[in-house]
Amino acid sequence: MSQVDRPVAPDAGPNTFEAVAGRRFGRRRFLAGGAAVGLAAVLPVSVAEAALGAVAGADGRRRPGGGTSPATPAALTFLGIAPDRTDEVTVPPGYRADVLVAWGDPLFHGDGPFRIDRLTAAEQARRFGFNSDFVQFLPLPGWGASGGDRALLWNNHEYTDASMMFPDLDPATYPTAEQAAIELAAHGASVVEIQRLGNGRWKARPGSRFNRRITATTPMRISGPAAGDPRVGDRVEGMLNNCGGGLTPWGTVLTAEENFQQYFANNDAVTDPAVQAAHRRYGVNGGASDRGWERHHARFDLAQTPNEPFKFGWVVEVDPYDPRSTPVKRTALGRIKHEAATTRVAADGRVAVYSGDDERFECLYKFVTAKKMSRDRRANRDLLDEGTLYAARFDDDGTGTWLPLVFGPELAAAGFTGQADVLIRLRDAAAALGATKMDRPEDVEASPTTGKVYMACTNNTRRGTAGNLPVDAANPRAVNRNGHVIEITEGGDDAAATSFTWEILILCGDPADPSTYYAGFDKTKVSPIACPDNLSFDSSGNLWIATDGAPSAWSGVFDPAPNDAIHAVPVEGADRGAAKQFLSGVVDCEVASLLVADDDRVLFASIQHPGEGSSLAAPSSTWPGGTPRPAVVAVTKRGRRIGS
Ligand code: FEO
Ligand code: CA
Ligand code: CA
Ligand code: CA
Repeated sequence: MSQVDRPVAPDAGPNTFEAVAGRRFGRRRFLAGGAAVGLAAVLPVSVAEAALGAVAGADGRRRPGGGTSPATPAALTFLGIAPDRTDEVTVPPGYRADVLVAWGDPLFHGDGPFRIDRLTAAEQARRFGFNSDFVQFLPLPGWGASGGDRALLWNNHEYTDASMMFPDLDPATYPTAEQAAIELAAHGASVVEIQRLGNGRWKARPGSRFNRRITATTPMRISGPAAGDPRVGDRVEGMLNNCGGGLTPWGTVLTAEENFQQYFANNDAVTDPAVQAAHRRYGVNGGASDRGWERHHARFDLAQTPNEPFKFGWVVEVDPYDPRSTPVKRTALGRIKHEAATTRVAADGRVAVYSGDDERFECLYKFVTAKKMSRDRRANRDLLDEGTLYAARFDDDGTGTWLPLVFGPELAAAGFTGQADVLIRLRDAAAALGATKMDRPEDVEASPTTGKVYMACTNNTRRGTAGNLPVDAANPRAVNRNGHVIEITEGGDDAAATSFTWEILILCGDPADPSTYYAGFDKTKVSPIACPDNLSFDSSGNLWIATDGAPSAWSGVFDPAPNDAIHAVPVEGADRGAAKQFLSGVVDCEVASLLVADDDRVLFASIQHPGEGSSLAAPSSTWPGGTPRPAVVAVTKRGRRIGS
């Protein structure tokens, strides 16, 4: 192991890690935490850590040995694995990782095994889609059931990669009309019935009446305050780039459209400068798109349909129990590059939905419904159409404010014409109100035992570089290669609060790197985490973290640079911060989503884009066997608790 490119601040200037740590926790407390702090040109890492830990104690919060934890997390006694770069899913001794369902697998009666050389658009529309992402578990026979051996698995299909899908790919003719149609059909999501077997393992049930494919052409409704706006309309064909998601308390799935900009071409031909600028703010380029779908579908050509991108970038609500239900894009939750949509019920019964905007220097958002949730599932059908959307401002003193993105004089002065405009151009609205620009806000999860909310910031190698924003207390590292995890405590522990306090849980990276911090735990005893992305909690409050980008972040640190991974981390009690690696993905994959489910007896994980960057002719991965295929794995231990 060698050390390269450590993001160490060279001096104690106003925006070094140490300086912002001091501001974050208050000068006095920072000094109290480490007697020798202050004026040193470069702080010893132990001092910065001491400051972080000492302040937490001063806040009266639970701490290692503090003994005030509201719940005792189940012990993570599994034998942690070492990082690796093998082309198989590695799990601890006693566990197994079974492929539950992979790209191309049949979902419906009469469909045979996948043949990549015979893939047609009609076939793809009936088969499991590409690039698995958000995974969700829904009990059968219906919402509210528990303990049974049947369930539904929801899985997002984020995007396509032609070089890993078409064995006869010819760049000169790509995309043919059929290839574009296959790719459209490979996007979206799948619902697949699954069944627990006697040995605790799970298998998919093709032919179940619940099985469903949703694609980039499935008819959808658009609802909420921006529906009917001339730019948005109230109908749309399909959803694009569904990355993360969430589950509502009434058993519908929220699936989040993320990098929709990449599907649209010719923004330079848009004649309305305001429309063109709005698209550019979300990264829609002039000229051809990467996939070239615009050659076969006018709606991706902005020279012909300049408003089409306004129909994307939303959170989509789907009832997975009704295969005939129409998915609904909920505009009240705003239009960004949604990583996920995580719900939590507020003290008074209203529902909060947290979502990160996954791009460098973008923000964290929270929506709070206007009305309370009903016990009647059907009565919550349009609950997400009315409420208040907020963006987070993280102040250096460890407090924070949820800034209401409500049209009024301030946003009118900033050029907005009404609430629909605020929601459609949400990034500009959040910036106008002073929301904090973060290091790629990814998944958000709330602890089921404490209610604290955790956000993964994957990385941001431009932070603190020339022409970019400097570090701040919530994003304390310049050239943040390895990302961090923030812990948020809502005011009054209420999800509907308009203020919060926060602290950094983990500054990821090689524990030998002085800028890393694992909640104050002994760094010689933690597994190294790089690029935290998706989060899940087990039922006793242990945090599980999947990574996206570890191979590049570890390049030059480990040789060979290991695969993306899953780590388990206690966030309460004496072991807070004791990260331990649980799973290693396959070569050139991303562990795009994870979920601890079924009373902690299974961990589902999406193994996305195995072999990315190579080709079918010379794949860098052959997982799960022969042709590399994105897939969902189910990790089990003979029906015993995950983590034991
Ligand atoms: Fe699709 Fe934010 O990762
Ligand atoms: Ca993601
Ligand atoms: Ca999650
Ligand atoms: Ca990601």
